[in-house]
Amino acid sequence: MKFFIDTASLTEIQEAADLGLLDGVTTNPSLLAKETGDSMEIFREICKIVDGPVSAEVTALDHEGMVREAEILRKIADNIVIKIPMTLEGLKALKTLSREGVETNCTLIFNATQALMAAKAGATYASPFVGRLDDISGNGMYLIEQICTIYRNYGLDTQVLVASIRLPEQVTQAAMIGAHVSTIPPKVMRQLASHPLTDIGLATFMADVEKMKNRT
Ligand code: G3P
Repeated sequence: MKFFIDTASLTEIQEAADLGLLDGVTTNPSLLAKETGDSMEIFREICKIVDGPVSAEVTALDHEGMVREAEILRKIADNIVIKIPMTLEGLKALKTLSREGVETNCTLIFNATQALMAAKAGATYASPFVGRLDDISGNGMYLIEQICTIYRNYGLDTQVLVASIRLPEQVTQAAMIGAHVSTIPPKVMRQLASHPLTDIGLATFMADVEKMKNRT
């Protein structure tokens, strides 16, 4: 499974890239609003750090406006992926862009038919938001199972990009189901590598190393 990081923070992106496990980046307007500076400049800097796909979201709500914005965003770098919201206008934009060979990420997916429509429109990635579904007592991971099954049933190429992740366990579940990508917030990315027994085990090993030093 590919690991993307879900942030627009250059510091966090650099930190994740330094781990050597980073396959891509997703951003959205809310993540960009947390940063300072011009969005286009932020995208440019992200693309300098990461070779893999970098999702940049359009802000237009109409099909023509989305396609126009996509043209501008694509000029930033070859690895920019155009993020399009799951709306009827968004579906039209996905179709137009996919015909032009542009990589897209259909965002704000909350049910399986939305994911099926995104794939039929030619989206490269479909982003179901698991955490936000769980927040309202839904079942985010069941949605991932449904989408993966439907895509397999029909041999659809669209990659399932699990978004709105809140916990390391969701990454495990996404991998068990066979989702293609998890986009992971920086805090969860750090949590993935840790376990209390690892810390305790390492502390014991280090204490024993000290004991051995004292022996000589
Ligand atoms: O990238 C979009 C998605 O991951 C948003 O997550 O935490 O705002 O629900 P969240």
